[in-house]
Amino acid sequence: MASGQLSRAEALACSGCRHACHVMLYSDTKTQLFGRIPIRHIILMQMRFDGLLGFPGGLVNPSKETLEAGLTRELSEELGVALPMSVEDHVDSCYAPASSPSSSTSSRLITHFYVKKMEEEQIREVERAAASTAKDHGHEVLGMVRVPLYTTKGGGGLSSFLSHSFIGNARSQLVDSLLHFNLIAPQELQKALTQSLKTHT
Ligand code: GTP
Ligand code: MN
Ligand code: MN
Ligand code: MN
Ligand code: MN
Ligand code: MN
Repeated sequence: MASGQLSRAEALACSGCRHACHVMLYSDTKTQLFGRIPIRHIILMQMRFDGLLGFPGGLVNPSKETLEAGLTRELSEELGVALPMSVEDHVDSCYAPASSPSSSTSSRLITHFYVKKMEEEQIREVERAAASTAKDHGHEVLGMVRVPLYTTKGGGGLSSFLSHSFIGNARSQLVDSLLHFNLIAPQELQKALTQSLKTHT
Protein backbone atom coordinates (compact mmCIF):
# COMPACT_ATOMS: atom_id res chain seq x y z
CA MET A 1 0.00 0.00 0.00
CA ALA A 2 1.14 3.55 -0.71
CA SER A 3 2.19 5.75 2.19
CA GLY A 4 -0.69 7.02 4.28
CA GLN A 5 -2.94 4.18 3.16
CA LEU A 6 -4.78 1.91 5.55
CA SER A 7 -7.39 -0.82 5.28
CA ARG A 8 -11.08 -0.07 5.73
CA ALA A 9 -11.06 -1.99 9.05
CA GLU A 10 -7.96 -0.14 10.35
CA ALA A 11 -9.54 3.15 9.38
CA LEU A 12 -12.77 2.39 11.24
CA ALA A 13 -10.79 1.35 14.32
CA CYS A 14 -9.59 4.95 14.74
CA SER A 15 -12.28 6.26 17.05
CA GLY A 16 -10.86 9.78 17.25
CA CYS A 17 -10.63 10.22 13.48
CA ARG A 18 -13.03 12.08 11.24
CA HIS A 19 -14.12 10.26 8.09
CA ALA A 20 -15.07 11.41 4.60
CA CYS A 21 -16.26 9.27 1.66
CA HIS A 22 -16.12 10.29 -2.00
CA VAL A 23 -16.85 8.42 -5.21
CA MET A 24 -15.82 8.47 -8.84
CA LEU A 25 -18.90 7.65 -10.93
CA TYR A 26 -18.18 6.75 -14.55
CA SER A 27 -19.53 5.04 -17.65
CA ASP A 28 -18.41 4.02 -21.11
CA THR A 29 -19.63 6.11 -24.03
CA LYS A 30 -19.43 6.10 -27.82
CA THR A 31 -19.86 9.89 -27.96
CA GLN A 32 -17.25 11.76 -30.00
CA LEU A 33 -16.04 15.32 -29.52
CA PHE A 34 -16.49 17.30 -32.78
CA GLY A 35 -17.79 14.03 -34.25
CA ARG A 36 -14.28 12.56 -34.47
CA ILE A 37 -12.44 12.47 -31.10
CA PRO A 38 -13.73 9.57 -28.95
CA ILE A 39 -14.36 10.75 -25.38
CA ARG A 40 -14.44 7.05 -24.34
CA HIS A 41 -15.70 7.51 -20.77
CA ILE A 42 -17.90 9.91 -18.86
CA ILE A 43 -16.21 10.56 -15.50
CA LEU A 44 -17.94 12.88 -13.02
CA MET A 45 -16.21 15.39 -10.77
CA GLN A 46 -17.58 18.59 -9.29
CA MET A 47 -16.65 22.23 -8.93
CA ARG A 48 -16.88 22.80 -5.18
CA PHE A 49 -17.97 25.95 -3.33
CA ASP A 50 -14.29 26.73 -2.65
CA GLY A 51 -13.40 26.74 -6.34
CA LEU A 52 -11.55 23.42 -6.13
CA LEU A 53 -12.33 20.29 -8.12
CA GLY A 54 -13.27 17.16 -6.17
CA PHE A 55 -15.47 14.10 -6.18
CA PRO A 56 -19.05 14.00 -4.88
CA GLY A 57 -19.36 12.79 -1.29
CA GLY A 58 -18.59 14.20 2.14
CA LEU A 59 -18.21 13.77 5.86
CA VAL A 60 -19.60 10.62 7.42
CA ASN A 61 -20.06 9.82 11.10
CA PRO A 62 -19.41 6.07 11.47
CA SER A 63 -21.00 6.01 14.93
CA LYS A 64 -24.30 7.07 13.34
CA GLU A 65 -24.21 5.49 9.86
CA THR A 66 -22.07 3.05 7.87
CA LEU A 67 -19.51 4.59 5.52
CA GLU A 68 -21.60 3.49 2.55
CA ALA A 69 -24.89 4.79 3.99
CA GLY A 70 -23.18 8.11 4.70
CA LEU A 71 -21.82 8.29 1.18
CA THR A 72 -25.27 7.47 -0.20
CA ARG A 73 -26.73 10.31 1.93
CA GLU A 74 -24.09 12.77 0.65
CA LEU A 75 -24.84 11.73 -2.94
CA SER A 76 -28.55 12.39 -2.44
CA GLU A 77 -27.68 15.89 -1.12
CA GLU A 78 -25.08 16.75 -3.78
CA LEU A 79 -26.44 14.87 -6.81
CA GLY A 80 -30.16 14.63 -6.07
CA VAL A 81 -30.29 10.88 -6.75
CA ALA A 82 -30.75 7.72 -4.66
CA LEU A 83 -27.59 5.76 -5.45
CA PRO A 84 -27.04 2.91 -2.98
CA MET A 85 -23.29 2.43 -2.49
CA SER A 86 -21.79 -0.87 -1.42
CA VAL A 87 -18.60 -2.09 0.30
CA GLU A 88 -17.64 -3.64 -3.04
CA ASP A 89 -17.29 -0.15 -4.52
CA HIS A 90 -14.62 0.75 -1.91
CA VAL A 91 -11.15 1.28 -3.42
CA ASP A 92 -8.95 2.62 -0.62
CA SER A 93 -8.75 4.64 2.58
CA CYS A 94 -5.96 6.98 3.59
CA TYR A 95 -5.03 9.77 5.95
CA ALA A 96 -5.65 13.17 4.44
CA PRO A 97 -2.44 15.20 4.13
CA ALA A 98 -2.08 17.61 7.07
CA SER A 99 -3.05 20.89 5.44
CA SER A 100 -2.29 23.52 8.08
CA PRO A 101 -0.54 23.78 11.48
CA SER A 102 -3.95 24.11 13.15
CA SER A 103 -5.01 20.71 11.79
CA SER A 104 -2.66 19.06 14.30
CA THR A 105 -5.00 20.18 17.06
CA SER A 106 -8.19 18.93 15.35
CA SER A 107 -8.79 15.21 14.82
CA ARG A 108 -7.25 13.53 11.82
CA LEU A 109 -9.29 13.10 8.66
CA ILE A 110 -9.41 9.75 6.87
CA THR A 111 -10.69 9.86 3.29
CA HIS A 112 -12.37 6.77 1.86
CA PHE A 113 -12.54 6.46 -1.90
CA TYR A 114 -15.06 4.54 -3.98
CA VAL A 115 -15.41 3.93 -7.70
CA LYS A 116 -18.68 2.90 -9.36
CA LYS A 117 -19.25 2.07 -13.00
CA MET A 118 -22.71 2.91 -14.31
CA GLU A 119 -24.65 2.82 -17.55
CA GLU A 120 -24.27 5.94 -19.70
CA GLU A 121 -27.98 6.77 -19.35
CA GLN A 122 -27.72 6.56 -15.53
CA ILE A 123 -24.76 8.98 -15.56
CA ARG A 124 -26.70 11.39 -17.75
CA GLU A 125 -29.62 11.18 -15.29
CA VAL A 126 -27.20 12.02 -12.43
CA GLU A 127 -26.02 15.07 -14.37
CA ARG A 128 -29.61 16.22 -14.92
CA ALA A 129 -30.60 15.73 -11.27
CA ALA A 130 -27.41 17.41 -9.98
CA ALA A 131 -28.26 20.53 -11.98
CA SER A 132 -31.93 20.63 -11.01
CA THR A 133 -33.26 18.81 -7.94
CA ALA A 134 -30.07 18.40 -5.85
CA LYS A 135 -30.37 20.24 -2.51
CA ASP A 136 -26.75 21.47 -2.60
CA HIS A 137 -26.77 22.68 -6.21
CA GLY A 138 -25.58 26.24 -6.62
CA HIS A 139 -24.03 26.68 -3.18
CA GLU A 140 -22.03 23.73 -1.77
CA VAL A 141 -21.73 22.29 -5.28
CA LEU A 142 -21.33 24.79 -8.12
CA GLY A 143 -21.70 22.18 -10.85
CA MET A 144 -20.74 18.76 -12.11
CA VAL A 145 -17.92 18.49 -14.66
CA ARG A 146 -16.73 15.69 -16.91
CA VAL A 147 -13.05 14.78 -17.14
CA PRO A 148 -11.62 15.04 -20.69
CA LEU A 149 -9.52 11.93 -21.38
CA TYR A 150 -8.16 12.99 -24.78
CA THR A 151 -5.34 15.27 -25.83
CA THR A 152 -6.06 17.79 -28.57
CA LYS A 153 -3.59 18.91 -31.25
CA GLY A 154 -2.87 22.05 -29.26
CA GLY A 155 -2.01 19.97 -26.18
CA GLY A 156 -5.31 20.68 -24.41
CA GLY A 157 -7.70 18.18 -22.86
CA LEU A 158 -6.59 16.02 -19.94
CA SER A 159 -3.34 17.93 -19.37
CA SER A 160 -5.21 21.25 -19.02
CA PHE A 161 -7.78 19.61 -16.75
CA LEU A 162 -5.02 18.26 -14.48
CA SER A 163 -3.55 21.79 -14.23
CA HIS A 164 -6.57 22.99 -12.24
CA SER A 165 -6.58 23.01 -8.43
CA PHE A 166 -7.99 19.98 -6.61
CA ILE A 167 -9.18 19.42 -3.03
CA GLY A 168 -7.05 17.12 -0.83
CA ASN A 169 -5.68 14.25 -2.88
CA ALA A 170 -8.56 14.19 -5.37
CA ARG A 171 -6.10 14.69 -8.25
CA SER A 172 -4.17 11.53 -7.40
CA GLN A 173 -7.41 9.64 -6.75
CA LEU A 174 -8.37 10.54 -10.32
CA VAL A 175 -5.00 9.73 -11.88
CA ASP A 176 -4.65 6.42 -10.00
CA SER A 177 -8.19 5.37 -10.97
CA LEU A 178 -7.64 6.17 -14.65
CA LEU A 179 -4.81 3.63 -14.63
CA HIS A 180 -6.33 1.07 -12.28
CA PHE A 181 -9.63 0.88 -14.17
CA ASN A 182 -7.99 1.01 -17.62
CA LEU A 183 -9.73 4.23 -18.62
CA ILE A 184 -6.68 5.56 -20.47
CA ALA A 185 -3.48 4.10 -21.95
CA PRO A 186 -0.55 4.51 -19.50
CA GLN A 187 1.62 6.32 -22.08
CA GLU A 188 -1.22 8.74 -22.88
CA LEU A 189 -1.65 9.50 -19.19
CA GLN A 190 2.09 9.98 -18.78
CA LYS A 191 2.09 12.45 -21.67
CA ALA A 192 -0.80 14.43 -20.13
CA LEU A 193 0.88 14.47 -16.69
CA THR A 194 4.16 15.75 -18.12
CA GLN A 195 2.32 18.36 -20.18
CA SER A 196 0.21 19.48 -17.20
CA LEU A 197 3.36 20.51 -15.31
CA LYS A 198 4.38 22.78 -18.21
CA THR A 199 1.00 24.50 -18.46
CA HIS A 200 1.13 28.11 -17.30
CA THR A 201 -1.82 30.48 -17.36
P1 GTP B 1 -20.40 19.85 4.33
O1 GTP B 1 -21.71 19.23 4.06
O2 GTP B 1 -20.33 21.29 3.97
O3 GTP B 1 -19.90 19.57 5.69
O4 GTP B 1 -19.34 19.17 3.32
P2 GTP B 1 -19.24 17.65 2.95
O5 GTP B 1 -19.81 16.83 4.05
O6 GTP B 1 -19.81 17.47 1.61
O7 GTP B 1 -17.66 17.41 2.95
P3 GTP B 1 -16.63 17.53 1.76
O8 GTP B 1 -17.13 16.88 0.51
O9 GTP B 1 -16.15 18.91 1.66
O10 GTP B 1 -15.45 16.57 2.30
C1 GTP B 1 -14.91 16.74 3.60
C2 GTP B 1 -13.41 16.88 3.50
O11 GTP B 1 -12.87 15.81 2.73
C3 GTP B 1 -12.99 18.16 2.78
O12 GTP B 1 -12.82 19.22 3.65
C4 GTP B 1 -11.67 17.75 2.16
O13 GTP B 1 -10.62 17.87 3.08
C5 GTP B 1 -11.87 16.30 1.85
N1 GTP B 1 -12.33 16.10 0.45
C6 GTP B 1 -13.36 16.67 -0.20
N2 GTP B 1 -13.48 16.20 -1.45
C7 GTP B 1 -12.51 15.29 -1.61
C8 GTP B 1 -12.11 14.46 -2.69
O14 GTP B 1 -12.67 14.44 -3.79
N3 GTP B 1 -11.05 13.66 -2.45
C9 GTP B 1 -10.41 13.65 -1.26
N4 GTP B 1 -9.38 12.83 -1.11
N5 GTP B 1 -10.74 14.42 -0.23
C10 GTP B 1 -11.77 15.23 -0.39
MN1 MN C 1 -21.94 17.40 1.15
MN1 MN D 1 -19.03 17.10 -0.40
MN1 MN E 1 -21.91 16.84 4.69
MN1 MN F 1 -23.66 19.79 3.40
MN1 MN G 1 -22.21 22.12 5.61
